Amino acid sequence: MISLQLSKKKFWDNAVEGYIFFLNENLETISSLAKFDVIEKEYYPQLRSILKKHQFEGKRGQSLVLSGARAKNLVQFIFIGVGKLEDDWHIELEHLRRAMGLVVHILKKFSITSAIYALPNEKPFGVSNTELLHQLAITAHMADYEFVTFKSEKKKNPFKCALAVAINPNFDERSFALQISHADILGTAINNARHWADTPANIMTPTALAEEAQKVADKYKNIECTIFGREKALELGMGGFCAVDAGSDQDGKFIVLEYKASKKAPTVALVGKGVAFDTGGVNLKPTSSIEHMKYDMTGAASVIALMDAFAQLKPDVNIICLAPCVENMPSGKAARPDDIITCMNGTTVEIKNTDAEGRLILADALCYAEKFYKPDYIIDIATLTGAVLYALGHFYTGLMTTNQELAERLIKFGKTTGDRVWALPLDEDFKEAVKCDIADIHNNGSSAYYAGTIVGACFLSNFVRKARWAHLDVAGTAHDVTGVNYVGKGATGASMRLLSAFVMSLDNR
Ligand code: BES
Ligand code: ZN
Ligand code: ZN
Repeated sequence: MISLQLSKKKFWDNAVEGYIFFLNENLETISSLAKFDVIEKEYYPQLRSILKKHQFEGKRGQSLVLSGARAKNLVQFIFIGVGKLEDDWHIELEHLRRAMGLVVHILKKFSITSAIYALPNEKPFGVSNTELLHQLAITAHMADYEFVTFKSEKKKNPFKCALAVAINPNFDERSFALQISHADILGTAINNARHWADTPANIMTPTALAEEAQKVADKYKNIECTIFGREKALELGMGGFCAVDAGSDQDGKFIVLEYKASKKAPTVALVGKGVAFDTGGVNLKPTSSIEHMKYDMTGAASVIALMDAFAQLKPDVNIICLAPCVENMPSGKAARPDDIITCMNGTTVEIKNTDAEGRLILADALCYAEKFYKPDYIIDIATLTGAVLYALGHFYTGLMTTNQELAERLIKFGKTTGDRVWALPLDEDFKEAVKCDIADIHNNGSSAYYAGTIVGACFLSNFVRKARWAHLDVAGTAHDVTGVNYVGKGATGASMRLLSAFVMSLDNR
């Protein structure tokens, strides 16, 4: 656990175990404090020569830990390189996040229980100084996350560290303290979602996830929770949800969380795919593809956990969280290829492949959103297609929308938050790929059209009529992203920072 604090003292008046320095390639600190408040003038020439002897050049990703004495205490000096800071602001900002990721890993490695850093100057990073602190604080929480529930030793000895930030005394303290508390809220939500996603499907069943959603609602007066199962779903005509649910002995749960704001506030629906485990169903996945399918409920976990954050952040935005949660299993009761079902808005669908199940449950959730809430915006988040891994790899979430203005906003928030998204086209042409001879559409997409990720989005587009809608395919970004040190192994919480920033931006008070 890292607890983040705002220090009201001068940098060196903080009695801590670790002093952290972000240095550029000139070996200068990049802090927003006065030049020699962080590294004192008299030590500076000596320090430079010591750093050089240790081959520390301030390059991106470089780090060096030196032990020394300070006010009769042995302490650690932690040097982190940030490079030249000449790239585009969002690239530098992402690398600064990784510099913070490195800090947290070092604090853990050396079991440092208290440390301080000076807030960097915001100029090269293209955001305000408060936003910069917000980003660094969330990153610290994210880098701290580990899935230790089943690691007996680690569970017994949790890491604890108080990480303080020093700011320029001329800055308004309250707005920085507020950023830290907001980052605590969001960081906790992100790590909760990661925890639920990492928890295997024998434990994190649709029922267990519904219980987590209920717990969120029980904590806050401003959140209402409705959970229903197969029976009510049949009544509502949710043929997609019921078809996927049919094969499993686990009860499917359709989870609704509502956060109500003022009458004039806009309404946004966040829809998350909640397949507790995706075997592929009767079109059973081969061994190599079935591994990690516990992560197929990441979208649902993300939107549920975000509601916990929104309940505390209290934006003036009506927020509806919809999480259709099922387990996709083969069995005597399971849906078959060739089955035809009818979704909630009357659209008939021929199931060509039971492994394209995410779009079936999302179809009904999108209909449900439009029918009961008439939202201004719908954003769905889903581990929808393996194809997005080939298109975009691990660093970019696939973004699909026909609303250019919405796309631009999401891309911009992706850059400020580090949840990078890349827009794929969604032209009418692709819609042909889901046309079907004997039903309105089919769920597999004709192979002649390739572009499986786009075709998946085209399928979904049949279930949104009025709202401004965007689809986020996080199949490549939701877990096991190599190369981003602050997300490490397992679930990443992909697109949660993005969704939070987007929703908060709709508050126009
Ligand atoms: N859950 C998978 C998508 C997935 C694949 C997520 C790999 C993470 C890693 C989804 O339900 C699925 O199986 N999609 C099919 C769609 C196809 C049958 C049209 C796919 O991607 O192969
Ligand atoms: Zn599938
Ligand atoms: Zn799936």
